[in-house]
Amino acid sequence: MVTPFRPEPFTDFTNEQQQLEYKQALLHVQQQLGKDYELIIDGERIRTENKIVSINPANTDQVIGVVAKADVALAEKAIQTAAKTFESWKSVAPEQRARYLFKAAAILRRRKHEFSAWLTVEAGKSWPEADADTAEAIDFMEYYARQMLRLAERQPLTRLAGEDNELYYIPLGVGIVIPPWNFPLAIMVGMTTAALVAGNTVVLKPASATPIIAAKFMEVLEEAGVPAGVVNYLPGQGSEIGDYLVDHPLTRFISFTGSREVGLRIHERAAKVQSGQKWMKRFIAEMGGKDAIVVDKEADLELAAQGIVTSAFGFSGQKCSACSRAIIHQDVYDQVLDRVTALTEQLTVGDPQDPTFYTGPVIDQQAYQKTLDYIEIGKKEGVLVTGGKRGDGPGYFIQPTVFSDVHPKARIMQEEIFGPVVAFTKARDFDHALEIANQTEYGLTGSVYSTNRVHLEKARESFHTGNLYFNRKCTGAIVGVHPFGGFNMSGTNSKAGGPDYLSLFTQAKLVSERL
Ligand code: SER
Repeated sequence: MVTPFRPEPFTDFTNEQQQLEYKQALLHVQQQLGKDYELIIDGERIRTENKIVSINPANTDQVIGVVAKADVALAEKAIQTAAKTFESWKSVAPEQRARYLFKAAAILRRRKHEFSAWLTVEAGKSWPEADADTAEAIDFMEYYARQMLRLAERQPLTRLAGEDNELYYIPLGVGIVIPPWNFPLAIMVGMTTAALVAGNTVVLKPASATPIIAAKFMEVLEEAGVPAGVVNYLPGQGSEIGDYLVDHPLTRFISFTGSREVGLRIHERAAKVQSGQKWMKRFIAEMGGKDAIVVDKEADLELAAQGIVTSAFGFSGQKCSACSRAIIHQDVYDQVLDRVTALTEQLTVGDPQDPTFYTGPVIDQQAYQKTLDYIEIGKKEGVLVTGGKRGDGPGYFIQPTVFSDVHPKARIMQEEIFGPVVAFTKARDFDHALEIANQTEYGLTGSVYSTNRVHLEKARESFHTGNLYFNRKCTGAIVGVHPFGGFNMSGTNSKAGGPDYLSLFTQAKLVSERL
């Protein structure tokens, strides 16, 4: 008997025992830095000449690990393996497939701090951010296993006398899973295990900035007994193997989380039918956001300021859910801006292995340069209120940065920066605030801080985002609680951690028998 889904609790880091255990996990991980990792195809570990080097973004001299790098020939081998394995995996009973996820979740729970420590060193996550990432990975497996059991039940159909009718959710085939680096455990695990529990086989191309955490997760799947060839681990450069994987006629679906630019490219390529291809490829995408927090004149302003700071600067703003636009009613604009500035100036920047630092680095040189470039653009488009500089230390540190008096159509109000930068704009009234909030091509998350019931109801109806939050931050969706995915250029509205998600990895077959 399976118990109802309950989200994994977050670790209480005020507890000394937990602090000690996290430090021990960091030490354990430090002893393993710099190792070599191979590709895994059909359970076989394969070395390559070319490598991807994963470095610590907080200390760029430190190598986290060196990973084999696939070329087109290995991509072909991975797809052929996944196609062959699908023939047996698709017949494994859903209950059995779910058990692999329950087992993998239990293993991950036992090794929780170890995985979080890898997230701290490879992705630059603070202890609580890393802990939340690992908890979410556990949640995805626990949740999707239960959702598969639900889909495997007899589905309610209208009864017709003289017939027995049954609807089955059957798998699709070979899936290419391309996860992001910003939730390198949670989202990678969610995308991969949703595909496999639904009966598909997977070619997993981990993000090039965070391949080690994915390699460690492959150990979990192996320990859980997932058969060889069901998930094939294929690190590689998007520019070298990305198109090949997407274009392949045996590819049945592509599950992607990442930038708008790459997502649209995949969408377009996946639409083209290749010679020998028998299906229309399915595309499941979660792309960017340009998420807004609206503060009404009647609102708990302290709560709002805290929500803006947490949403904008948690994990250095590198969440697609992050607040990058603060839209404030003119009557309370100065107050909210002053309070956000004061709170931002309290945030310390440094290596997240040290828990006293709130803000870690951005992920790599490219993100670092891009964010610094946007800060220069911001200086022309608004008033730099705080931050705007590089942080100290041997990593990609950038001070949390606030701009005020920015026009709603300015570039820093429209383009996704994916760094610790938030821009403030003034609204005449609540309707104007909502109008500005919707002036974006994205539609992922948003928050409204208001105590006015009429205004909240108006926002409920017209603030066009997939995840809309009232009087709370716009980050930190919890599996099963806040199904996550957006509108417009934020993706295909595939609600990760929601009851509809697994059906995206299946197709429904009706069998009708005359009695
Ligand atoms: N699901 C994450 C959040 O809500 C973002 O991917 O913050």
